Amino acid sequence: MSKLAAHVVLCLLNLVISLSLSLITTSNATTTSSAPPHFREAPEFYNSPECPPIPEDETSDDQEGSYLCSDQTIHVAMTLDAAYLRGSMAAILSVLQHSSCPQNVVFHFVASASASADQLRSTIAKSFPYLRFQVYPFNDSAVAGLISTSIRAALDCPLNYARNYLANLLPLCVRRVVYLDSDLVVVDDIAKLAATPLGDHSVLAAPEYCNANFTSYFTPTFWANPALSLIFAGRKACYFNTGVMVIDLERWRAGDYTTKIVEWMELQKRMRIYELGSLPPFLLVFAGNIAPVDHRWNQHGLGGDNFWGLCRDLHPGPVSLLHWSGKGKPWVRLDANRPCPLDALWAPYDLLQTPFALDS
Ligand SMILES: *[C@@H]1O[C@H](CO)[C@@H](O)[C@H](O)[C@H]1NC(C)=O
Ligand SMILES: *[C@@H]1O[C@H](CO)[C@@H](O)[C@H](O)[C@H]1NC(C)=O
Ligand SMILES: *[C@@H]1O[C@H](CO)[C@@H](O)[C@H](O)[C@H]1NC(C)=O
Repeated sequence: MSKLAAHVVLCLLNLVISLSLSLITTSNATTTSSAPPHFREAPEFYNSPECPPIPEDETSDDQEGSYLCSDQTIHVAMTLDAAYLRGSMAAILSVLQHSSCPQNVVFHFVASASASADQLRSTIAKSFPYLRFQVYPFNDSAVAGLISTSIRAALDCPLNYARNYLANLLPLCVRRVVYLDSDLVVVDDIAKLAATPLGDHSVLAAPEYCNANFTSYFTPTFWANPALSLIFAGRKACYFNTGVMVIDLERWRAGDYTTKIVEWMELQKRMRIYELGSLPPFLLVFAGNIAPVDHRWNQHGLGGDNFWGLCRDLHPGPVSLLHWSGKGKPWVRLDANRPCPLDALWAPYDLLQTPFALDS
């Protein structure tokens, strides 16, 4: 079996597991049928009067073009796939609902080229008829060969690595983008996150966790090899989660960080230097050199740990973004009638039309 085939099987396996989990308890929910899930239409959201207008491009009749390249536009990138579609839809709704200038937000969706990008596109357009968005097909085979297996099969889906290629995928005129995972909801104005100061040199900004045990993200092989571990010499390297990031795409392109990350992935294939999937190469390249973001923008871990998916509580402090990172996903637990208490905060953003849902 080829490497690509093996990875596709792993991703599918994960999907089958979550589907059969919901099958056990809610046998008639739409998630279990083979028909594509049906999502409700979200309401239209309007800019407040204070929002900066997007200047129209006089030289072209391409309205979308002016939105794509305006400095007033807030760019949000996410991945789209069948397994997390319900999460993505909820995340989009949450961003729009809490944004003071929702009409200035443009979404950039990276979809697996092997999935039906057209079907994903029409699903989004049906639920969000007013949304400005682009869909970029992502060539999974290009990364599949770079991925080594990790403790969680889901982390090995090639689309997890799409965030490394945003600078190549998005139009050159897009200078800054907020990357968001699909298992989260934003409960604050995304413009505030997008405006995070990156200082004179930082390529990306993310909430940092300096109390996390940084050593544990890399193998003893890595630490034992000075040629490798010296990469962190003189850097105050702290863990950060790659599920919420503000990226300066111009600096990223100028420094060709995509290649730097790929080089670490290639090394990982030859000698095991870390355990998790797409995160450690980001730590290798950026840890210690990122701009900080307040922890309120990534209340992470709500999915629970990777083994049992136990319920987690919020971290102390204010909340601007709830992130169900970890094994459990709120839509799976809600369908299975085994929700964690905080899953109730995700449910209001669920657009899936189940036969049981009240029509609206
Ligand atoms: C599912 O649908 C079938 C046929 O429509 C019905 O007989 C059955 O009671 C339903 N089950 C549940 C759990 O609603
Ligand atoms: C995808 O990537 C593979 C491996 O790099 C390459 O052989 C193939 O031609 C690419 N497909 C497309 C459509 O670009
Ligand atoms: C950090 O993790 C490493 C490797 O997993 C372990 O050996 C070390 O004891 C841990 N340090 C602390 C302070 O927990």
